[in-house]
Amino acid sequence: MPFKKNILCIGAGYVGGPTMAMIAAKCPQYKVLVVDINHKRINEWNSDNLPIYEPGLDELVKAARGRNLFFSNEIEKGIRDADIIFVSVNTPTKTFGQGSGMAADLQYWEKTARQILANSDRDKIIVEKSTLPVRTAKAMERILNSNGGNIKFEVLSNPEFLAEGSAIKDLENPDRVLIGSRETEEGIRARKELVDIYANWVPREKIIESNVWSSELSKLTANAFLAQRVSSINSLSALCEATEADIEEVAYAIGTDSRIGNKFLKASVGFGGSCFKKDILNLVYICRTYGLNEPADYWDSVVRINEWQERRFVLSMLSNMFNTVAGKKIAVLGFAFKANTGDTRESPAIYITRGLIEERALVNVSDPKALGNAREDLKDIREGLEYIEDPYKAAEGAHAIAVLTEWDIYRNLDYKKIFDSMVKPAFVFDGRNILNHRKLFEMGFNVFAIGKTPLKHF
Ligand code: NAD
Ligand code: UGA
Repeated sequence: MPFKKNILCIGAGYVGGPTMAMIAAKCPQYKVLVVDINHKRINEWNSDNLPIYEPGLDELVKAARGRNLFFSNEIEKGIRDADIIFVSVNTPTKTFGQGSGMAADLQYWEKTARQILANSDRDKIIVEKSTLPVRTAKAMERILNSNGGNIKFEVLSNPEFLAEGSAIKDLENPDRVLIGSRETEEGIRARKELVDIYANWVPREKIIESNVWSSELSKLTANAFLAQRVSSINSLSALCEATEADIEEVAYAIGTDSRIGNKFLKASVGFGGSCFKKDILNLVYICRTYGLNEPADYWDSVVRINEWQERRFVLSMLSNMFNTVAGKKIAVLGFAFKANTGDTRESPAIYITRGLIEERALVNVSDPKALGNAREDLKDIREGLEYIEDPYKAAEGAHAIAVLTEWDIYRNLDYKKIFDSMVKPAFVFDGRNILNHRKLFEMGFNVFAIGKTPLKHF
């Protein structure tokens, strides 16, 4: 049976792969092709060993792959055959020139636009899936419609809100799907085509339609608000440590107010991930571009508090371990930026491990899924670092353990066995507040947790 339409996704990363797998699974009438310049990634998508770890992803891909879901490096052919093109390439922070360290680097994005233009011989709908600065669709339209007007490209904004570790759940049952378009007849027609795709599984009332600029800006705003909650609670965790208030009790007390809500109030060692920092810095840069320095400073402080929280964690380890960790073995439990993912981009564990190594500690890094990425992140460190997946082995002979990712396995380890194998006095630094602190203290550990009064035997 011929397919109703050909969907193409350019960029087979954390967003492109899972998102297209979900569309293919829910819309067997569409052919979905995912392309990438990275041959290794595409080969992995076509193998039993997918390039990213995400609960439920293997099953989803296996069910649709070869039926209506395909992965390939043939980008130009893919563009020619496509009716609808999602662009899901990376948009990292610029590291050079104007806006370096703040603005989004749009080079991959623009390259894609030019490639689409060069390989199209009929009208197409282009969907911005990547997170982009507000008004990028305008630049996209200018490039695409510089063809003399023979071919018409309609640019839609359809930002992705999935979170890693729960991507499949988020895609299957999203809080909302946001689709922005130009409010012209053609724009609204194109928007309707995308609505029809999502309506195969997303209730219609959860599909929000808006103008294209609101859609672009809503994505940056959502991430800024989420990160701001983490920085707010983290800023107060320090005050709790100074006053014997308990950050979990405070979070619970305020989170029961339905106007505040109880999500994203977990104090931690800091937020990581590829997007929060880059998207906020991008928002700050955009504000400054429009001369809006006060909002720029406001959002910038969310990132600064996060950096301070990471720094504070290293300093707390240092000062509580008698002002020196030189030559001491420390087990870092968890390197991923959150549980249930192997992703380590902007993980606080990178900063903390580097901080400990600078202090000449001997660090054993442990993680069930992220050791491959950890090795890559820390490849310049020549001495003092080992990668040990088994947490018991990582903690053997250590002076301290630092929990940096909230993996479930770390909640229920045999801490008595770990304590017995460690150098005394033994320390626990719980950067995620997932352990039973009182019990650990009674076992003999000195326990330091985020936003809590230390439990120590000296
Ligand atoms: P990623 O780096 O995992 O994937 C991007 C892919 O695009 C890479 O595999 C890269 O090789 C490919 N690519 C780059 N230029 C290309 C080109 N010209 N042609 C073909 N392929 C090309 O990135 P990601 O995490 O999937 O993020 C993609 C976008 O989605 C970003 O804008 C990000 O901000 C946004 N986003 C990410 C998440 C997330 O959880 N990771 C969630 C929501 C939104
Ligand atoms: C985040 C957003 O939640 C997604 O909606 C968005 O699509 C995505 O960014 C993106 O644009 O990339 P993600 O970064 O995958 O998703 O994960 P989150 O669950 O948001 O966690 C981000 C960081 O904040 C993690 O390091 C997490 O441990 C930390 N966090 C989160 C806390 O420290 N406390 C909390 O209460 C919540």
